Parts: sequence; structure tokens; C-alpha cells
Amino acid sequence: MKVLITGGAGYIGSHTAVELIAAGHDICVVDNYSNSSPAAIDRIRMLTDRPFNAYDCDVRDRERLMAVFAGEKPDAVIHFAGLKAVGESVQKPLEYYSNNLTSTTVLLDCMRENGCKIIVFSSSATVYGSENPVPFREDMPEGATSSPYGTTKKFIERILTDVAAADSSLSVSLLRYFNPVGAHPSGVLGENPNGIPNNLMPFIMKVAAGKIPELTVFGGDYPTPDGTCLRDYIHVVDLAKGHVKALDRAAGRTGTEIFNLGTGKPTSVLEIIRAFEKASGKPLNYKVGPRREGDIPMCYSDPSKAKRDLGWTADLTIDDMCRDSWNFISKNPNGYDA
Ligand code: NAD
Ligand code: UFG
Repeated sequence: MKVLITGGAGYIGSHTAVELIAAGHDICVVDNYSNSSPAAIDRIRMLTDRPFNAYDCDVRDRERLMAVFAGEKPDAVIHFAGLKAVGESVQKPLEYYSNNLTSTTVLLDCMRENGCKIIVFSSSATVYGSENPVPFREDMPEGATSSPYGTTKKFIERILTDVAAADSSLSVSLLRYFNPVGAHPSGVLGENPNGIPNNLMPFIMKVAAGKIPELTVFGGDYPTPDGTCLRDYIHVVDLAKGHVKALDRAAGRTGTEIFNLGTGKPTSVLEIIRAFEKASGKPLNYKVGPRREGDIPMCYSDPSKAKRDLGWTADLTIDDMCRDSWNFISKNPNGYDA
């Protein structure tokens, strides 16, 4: 298949590009580099042997995107492009609704005009909200989202579901990611966000690399075994392989399907810190501070549907995730810009 990857220079998109090529697919990438750099494209090329085109293009730019579709004629789209910082979305809701929703509707329009029938979308466990009991299953009702970012995921899931209901030839896969961490084992690809990181692992990596003095653990008084939040951390390479499996299944089907992509195993913030210390062989400077607004105590998946229907499981461990993150930051202390 020829797969158009929006946001393919980003963290998850770049790892997925490598796994798609390894599985024999052709790809092309569209990214506006708002949270990435063209260096990521060079890195994908270092790890793969199949030529592909990458376009500096905002997905909201219909004219340019139509030209990409006309030239590339993709059979399927994996839609990663979007803004993803939960806290920033509270400060800049308009930017988040505009970027994430408009990019999706423009993309769907271009797909329709060009007869492209398969779309796989990067959704998030955030759509389960705080009302549902863990582990989260796909048949649970959506919960209340706690940020405009989360609401964009909920709205886009609805838009895609409605569009698939109106066009019976469309195949929509909604992949609800849990907490992607880790890096490609080569150390060539990893998480390389622009600016100060928001998520736990990139923050830990910056502290370990001496770029930020100290990590603050957000809350030590949650109703969990060690008082810190539990999350379902998943290695980005396992996550990337989940997309390949989802695409294989989508190719033979129409309608909308939802899959959790997680390990099903909860891990606390303190357990992540210990595992990272083991991987790096040195202590990490941290303190326990107040809770962060909007965090839920526990968030982890029931991954059995993806195992049953996609034949996919996340096999890499927390130690693998920390080893590969440490390997990436050790080889790239200044990210891709070194
Ligand atoms: P990322 O920021 O590394 O990648 C997103 C990419 O999209 C970036 O390269 C950015 O430059 C690009 N982009 C943003 N807006 C664009 C636009 N209008 N046109 C073209 N390119 C645009 O993020 P990621 O971690 O790789 O996440 C990928 C997707 O997965 C996002 O939709 C994110 O919301 C979703 N997701 C991520 C996580 C996570 O923890 N990383 C969890 C759940 C869901
Ligand atoms: N944390 C800290 N200190 C930090 C950063 C994070 O203690 O500096 C803690 C958080 O409180 C949380 C855990 O580490 O307990 C993980 O936090 P992240 O910010 O890495 O991830 P979240 O679970 O908050 O959010 C992630 C994705 C979102 C997605 C959400 C729900 O980033 O896109 O999972 O699936 F919406």
C-alpha cells in the first residue's frame, strides 16, 4: 500500500514510517514542522532503504494537500498531525480546535476528492475521562475531557465516525494510545520536541542530560500503592507496529473500529524514575511536589481487543523503554540539532 503519513516527522509518526517501510509499504510524509524538524526525515531515511517524498505542508492548506494527493495517490492515510500539549491547549483553545479539527476536515475532503478510502487516526486514552473504572475498554462510554486537547480527540473521533457512517466505502480506525515512551533501539530516532517538554519521559531525559536541573513528581498522595499516578507506558516501536497491524486489518474492511494501544500494565511515576536510574546507571534529581490539575490517578488499558482482532500485543518492557530513551538522549544530547 502507499500510505500518506500526516505529522510523519513527529515522534510517533517517524517511528511508524520506519515500521511501515519494514513491512513493505510505500510512504509519503506531510508535516509543517511546527513541533518537529526536517532532520527527522533524514533520520527515517538513515534507517530505511525505500525512497519517499516528504512535503513541508500544513494539512489545513487544502490546495497544497490536494497537490500532494494528486502526485502521490495514496491508498491510505495515517493521521498523526496535530497539536498535543494538554496544558497549552487550556491557554490556547482556539489554536487547538483550529489546528486539530480543521486539519482533519481538510484531510477528509482531499481523501474524498481523490478516492482514498482508509484512514487511521491517532486518538488518545484521554477520551475515557475520569468516570470509567480502569482498565479502560473500547466499549466503555466516553468520559468528560479535561482539556481542549482531549476534546479535539473526542470531536475528531465523532467526525470520523459520522463520515464513515455516511460513506459505506470508508474504513476508519481510531487508535487510542496510552502513554508512548522510548525510542528506536538504534538511537537514531527518538522524541525530539521543540521547547520545554510536558510529558514525563522527555522531561526525565532532559534532567538526565543535564539540560533541566530537577524533575517535579506531580503528587505523592494519590490512592495508589506508592502515592504517585499509574499510567500504561508503551514503547513507541510497539505502538508503531500496532499501526501496521491496524492498516492490514483496515484494508479488508469498511466502517469504524476502535482499538486501545497499550500494554495493560500500570506503572507509577516513581517506578519509572527507578527504571530510568537503572538504565542510565545514575541517580535522577527529583522532588515530589503538588498534584497537576487535570491528572487522573490511574489510566491503563485493557488491550485484549487489539490482541484478538489485530493479532498485536505490546511486548517491550519498562526497562526496554528506559534503556532506549537513555540510549537516544546519550547519542543525541541536543536532539536532532546536534
Ligand atoms: P508530535 O508533536 O511529535 O508529532 C505531531 C506532528 O504533527 C509534528 O511533527 C508537527 O510538526 C505536525 N503537525 C502539527 N500540526 C500540523 C499541521 N496542521 N500540518 C502538518 N503537520 C502538523 O506528536 P506525537 O507524540 O508524535 O503525536 C502524534 C499524534 O498522536 C498526535 O495527534 C497526538 O495528539 C497523538 N497522541 C500522542 C500521545 C503522546 O503522548 N505522544 C498520546 C496520545 C495521542
Ligand atoms: N508527571 C510528573 N512530572 C512531570 C510530568 C509528568 O510527575 O514533569 C507525571 C504526571 O503527573 C502523570 C505521569 O507523569 O502522572 C504521566 O504524565 P504525562 O504528562 O507524561 O502523560 P499524561 O498521562 O498526563 O498524558 C498522556 C498524553 C496525553 C493523553 C493522556 C491520556 O500525553 O496526550 O496521556 O491518555 F491525553
